[in-house]
Amino acid sequence: MSVDDFIGLGYLVAAALFVLGLKGLGKPRTAVRGNQLGALGMLVAVLVTLLDREIVSFWQLAIGLGIGAALGVLLALRVEMTAMPQLVALFNGFGGLASVLVAAASFFEAVGRGSDDLQVSLAAALTALIGALTFTGSIIAFTKLNESWDGPTVPAARIVNIVLTVLSAVAVIAVVADPDERLWFWLVVAIAAVLGVTITSPIGGADMPVVIALLNSFSGLAAAAAGFVLDNSLLIIAGALVGASGLILTAIMTKAMNRTLVEVLFGDAPASGGGMDADEVYAGKVTSTSADEVAMILDTAERVVIVPGYGLAVAQAQHAVRDLTKALEANGSEVVFGIHPVAGRMPGHMNVLLAEAEISYDALVEMDMVNPTFEQTDVAIVLGANDVVNPVARETEGPIAGMPILDVDKARVVVVIKRSLSPGFAGIPNPLFAADNSMMLFGDGKAAVVEITKALAEV
Ligand code: TAP
Repeated sequence: MSVDDFIGLGYLVAAALFVLGLKGLGKPRTAVRGNQLGALGMLVAVLVTLLDREIVSFWQLAIGLGIGAALGVLLALRVEMTAMPQLVALFNGFGGLASVLVAAASFFEAVGRGSDDLQVSLAAALTALIGALTFTGSIIAFTKLNESWDGPTVPAARIVNIVLTVLSAVAVIAVVADPDERLWFWLVVAIAAVLGVTITSPIGGADMPVVIALLNSFSGLAAAAAGFVLDNSLLIIAGALVGASGLILTAIMTKAMNRTLVEVLFGDAPASGGGMDADEVYAGKVTSTSADEVAMILDTAERVVIVPGYGLAVAQAQHAVRDLTKALEANGSEVVFGIHPVAGRMPGHMNVLLAEAEISYDALVEMDMVNPTFEQTDVAIVLGANDVVNPVARETEGPIAGMPILDVDKARVVVVIKRSLSPGFAGIPNPLFAADNSMMLFGDGKAAVVEITKALAEV
């Protein structure tokens, strides 16, 4: 067997492991194994690639590996668990940038050799387009998730985006028509980089999950396109798998938000505030409660639904909430978790946190299934969630208008645990806090849940 055959066989094994890994990731019970299979596939891929005589020197690889590993370790050690969504956004962005650089080097080298292969020039142009857009779009997504910057204000964003999309298509055609002129390639990169900023900046509030999923998909598509430039089958397969699963996730997110992709990407920026004035919404209407009072109410509750949100991640309250669940079950209550598809800051954020505390998957009930049960629910505990339970979403205008929410307000009693009356990610006041059947337990999510569990034992 020649070295090339061996590499081909290795790539086939790696591709099969990627597919099996993804399949495993589809179900919580097999997810860990799926992750391990994917990692094994990547190890096989890297090892057989080292046999390729055309790769750059081992020294160069070792230096790149050293720098990358050092940065990776530093980030992994320093990043707070709550900053994971931002980190994932950055990883997507750097994936896109890496694809642009790899495609540029390989494309210029091929053109230098006198090759005018249409596949290579088209793939290089598409890598430049998708990769550069992914890079700058992800940087803006990073700053938004970090709540440090909302991106620049783009006047007439819809028109600007359409014009830039057309210009980028023209520049892609120029690369294909005149591959010897490097300027066209960098022009695609420049237009796409600006487009990444102008598309992502106006997207606000509750629509961010769609963008996150789409950028994730784009990072895969950029890698697949780079695979065509390098003529590397495994990069094409791996990139296509990431791209396709990201697109499926995007479809799930748009459906969860009751939006279309075109509305999110090319629609007008949502009006901020939803026309609501916090003072008016809450004035004299909010009822505060204590852990002791909540424990007394819970003591007689037959059915309790806990709705976790981003505050659960901030408070790292997942273990405390498991203890409360056990105490309630021991007391005879039925307890389930109502999971909104965009709760938190990452797809599946709540599922991951609750799984970490070994809360049974059977207890996690998706929005469509749990919503019809709120009317028969004695107590809904809203733990660090806000936008996903905001009844303003039922109105026809505003940043979260039309987004399906968890109908906690239909439960007999709603206990909202958070530190203040401040709004959620979309920045709009939440009238749920002032509803007649709501009580606010102000404080850190973890401390509050621990106190309720303690009080429950003493009731
Ligand atoms: P949010 O609407 O962001 O509300 C989270 C709430 O948690 C805040 O109001 C905050 O109030 C509270 N909180 C923070 N730290 C806390 C702590 N230590 N203890 C208790 N509470 C704490 O969260 P959500 O309801 O999960 O909604 C998610 C939002 O993020 C949606 O708008 C969604 O579109 C957006 N988003 C989602 C994603 C994905 S993919 N899931 C990605 C990007 C954006 P206090 O400060 O008063 O405590």
